[in-house]
Amino acid sequence: MISKQVSFMFAARAQQSAAITCGIIQSVRRLSTGSGSEVELIRHDGSDKGIATIAFNRPKAKNALSRSLVGDFRQALDELRSDSETRVVILRSAVPKVFCAGADLKERATMSPQQVEQFLHSMKVSFRELETLPQPTIAALDGAALGGGFELALCCDLRIAGPQAVLGLPETSLAIIPGAGGTQRLTRLIGASRAKALVFTARRFGPMPALSMGIVNDVANQESTGDSQNIGESGYLRALEWAREILPNGPIAVRMAKRAIDHAGAVDPVTGLDVEQLCYAQVIPTQDRLEGLRAFKEKRKPVYHGH
Ligand code: CAA
Repeated sequence: MISKQVSFMFAARAQQSAAITCGIIQSVRRLSTGSGSEVELIRHDGSDKGIATIAFNRPKAKNALSRSLVGDFRQALDELRSDSETRVVILRSAVPKVFCAGADLKERATMSPQQVEQFLHSMKVSFRELETLPQPTIAALDGAALGGGFELALCCDLRIAGPQAVLGLPETSLAIIPGAGGTQRLTRLIGASRAKALVFTARRFGPMPALSMGIVNDVANQESTGDSQNIGESGYLRALEWAREILPNGPIAVRMAKRAIDHAGAVDPVTGLDVEQLCYAQVIPTQDRLEGLRAFKEKRKPVYHGH
């Protein structure tokens, strides 16, 4: 496991992003449970302190989900789950033109049916770990997010698409079905009829249809600046803007709001209201709540510390 203190980002594109936004990266931690180091955990600093980015970096296989990558990813999630300093988590790719190509189909071809089942289980557990992170999560979808890659994004609270995003569940074209929660999470998000249309056809679609179906919350600016290399704002930069909007809000309140909202639809309405009440009870004794009231009275911006 290599841990490295750096003041700026790891890849040329990311360096450009950091320069544009004046964000400072405090540390990049390359996680490795196996042979490679395919997941980076980046903690931002300066005015972005409190934002953490998980970046997938497996260029040779377009960030396909191998056993090793999923292991590294789980390690990153483990670290963040217990990190009270992290207020917002962004998932992104360090590989141009792809977010994640889904299950590693080459590795899959070498697995026995039992190993496929085991791997699917560990993928599902990791996706659930992502979904239940206490902090809000944002998927920055630059490039292809297909199969398991799209299902991964569905576990995030928000999804922001870049101009080059290509989404889809191509599983039925491989004679399988979405097996990492896609049939359930997509259906809850957009309804059975639309989910069936996408799964039955295995169709790939871009950012604007994704926005109109409610699959993504926002699409980055598609305007080119005239530079032939520049295809517009990246989904990551737009996701960073969203993270910055969440960052100053009461961290415990945001976590409790996430927990309460996640229960809507999972429990009956009366139980849901009880859950909301229990979540509200967590914010009442906080110093942050008192700070919010003081700041309102003093006509200034509140400063929350997460206690
Ligand atoms: N698994 C393993 N390797 C993959 C991969 C995958 N899912 N996707 C791409 N690669 C590899 C390619 O085989 C290729 O390797 P070689 O150089 O050794 O030939 C390399 O990545 C580059 O791929 P392309 O040349 O295809 O790159 P591209 O930029 O033209 O296209 C892509 C990128 C759109 C992601 C395209 O590769 C693609 O469509 N990949 C397959 C996506 C897919 O069907 N995913 C669903 C998997 S099933 C699943 O996820 C269900 C589940 O069980 C959870």
